[in-house]
Amino acid sequence: MQITLIVLGIIIALLGLSWIFVPLLSGLPWIPSHRHRTHKALALADLQPGEILYDLGTGDGRVLIHACREFDAIAVGIEISPAHCVIAWLRAFLAGVLDCVSIKMGNFYKHDLKKADVVYAYLTPEHASRIRPRLEMQLRPGTRVVTISADLDGWEPVGFDSEDLIFLYHIPPTPGNLETFLIKRETSSQDKTSVN
Ligand SMILES: C[S@@+](CC[C@H](N)C(=O)[O-])C[C@H]1O[C@@H](n2cnc3c(N)ncnc32)[C@H](O)[C@@H]1O
Repeated sequence: MQITLIVLGIIIALLGLSWIFVPLLSGLPWIPSHRHRTHKALALADLQPGEILYDLGTGDGRVLIHACREFDAIAVGIEISPAHCVIAWLRAFLAGVLDCVSIKMGNFYKHDLKKADVVYAYLTPEHASRIRPRLEMQLRPGTRVVTISADLDGWEPVGFDSEDLIFLYHIPPTPGNLETFLIKRETSSQDKTSVN
């Protein structure tokens, strides 16, 4: 009995340490997406029922549950922190969505992303520039990529929400960046005004 309690204590302590230190050491800390931001991002990406969504660095799995419940999507989360994987699984279990949510423990830089219809990633600028070539190499034409907080410099977005810093890209991406997108948008709105 005492040994069981000690083992349980060690497991809980290790999970606690993994909760704090693994995201920190990865350089991409756990900052959960707010519900309205996730909803806007998935709507911007036009996530359809039955489509496969990948959340790169899924944290506590809230994006997966939202994608499954609100969009009827099949949601796959990749997460490097064991503690976050456990919590994400528990949350999905309690929400009753394990039929459409799966959590894979691992490094999203090493994961096969080819099956994704939509990729969701809450990134820092450093991780955004690191993941971009991998997305370009792996994703199928027609895949949508929606990033939160950081843009994929070198790709021109096809959609942008300035209020919540959400960036949408289509594969294959057009070379460019946020600036080229904003210039094009400005020019086309001026053209429309001058026609009217
Ligand atoms: C900014 S949080 C985003 C969480 C979730 N996607 C959301 O929007 O609520 C980033 C998450 O990515 C995880 N992470 C960092 N580097 C990773 C990597 N290389 N592979 C998988 N997960 C990673 C962190 O542990 C953290 O939980």
